[in-house]
Amino acid sequence: MILSPSLLSANFANLKADIDMINDSEADWIHVDVMDGMFVPNISFGFPIMEVLKKTCYKPLDVHLMIEDPDRYISRFKEAGANILNVHYEACTHLHRTIQRIKNEGMKAAVTLNPHTPVSSLEEIIQEVDMVLLMSVNPGFAAQKFIENTYSKIERTKELILKKNANCLIQIDGGVNLSNAQKLVDLGADSLVAGNAIFVTDNPLETIAQFKQIN
Ligand code: DX5
Ligand code: ZN
Repeated sequence: MILSPSLLSANFANLKADIDMINDSEADWIHVDVMDGMFVPNISFGFPIMEVLKKTCYKPLDVHLMIEDPDRYISRFKEAGANILNVHYEACTHLHRTIQRIKNEGMKAAVTLNPHTPVSSLEEIIQEVDMVLLMSVNPGFAAQKFIENTYSKIERTKELILKKNANCLIQIDGGVNLSNAQKLVDLGADSLVAGNAIFVTDNPLETIAQFKQIN
């Protein structure tokens, strides 16, 4: 299981300490939540923080764009160090073109579905994407409650991937914790994002190790 701790729950007063912790940990990627205050009702951080990550974080940057019209910034995110660029299905009018642009920049291309967006929306694009992210909360905030419908949604995504013979990972984001992680992986999740469940614990390094025991 590919674990991607979400920086959104880190301590921004001492970001260096949390980046060092991630570097020393068994985490595979670092999940970077970029919010524009338009697509979601919150504003997080953007290029200045990404430049810091690019210089100091040794894990691949898994960038989740919760922004409108992400096409405007694809090359900027490449320059800022993104390895995986993840756009929302709901934010892209010409999703096929957006995916091609991300790949042409040399990044992995991922698409996120909001909780209400059906898996069938991906029928004609799944073969082009490297990863599908299923939101298991409504995007915008950390520490929300996991939406149970996600479980069956993973199964539908897995079916679609098999049907289309696509080479595509499934990632889950929102309300993931040590209690539901095993079930998510059993149903077909390849990657889990966790913010609150890692950063609010007394020993985040140990919590990451516990997550990594799930396979
Ligand atoms: C929510 C973000 C998530 C969030 C997850 O909009 O996309 O990545 O940081 O946080 P937790 O794990 O606390 O739900
Ligand atoms: Zn996210």
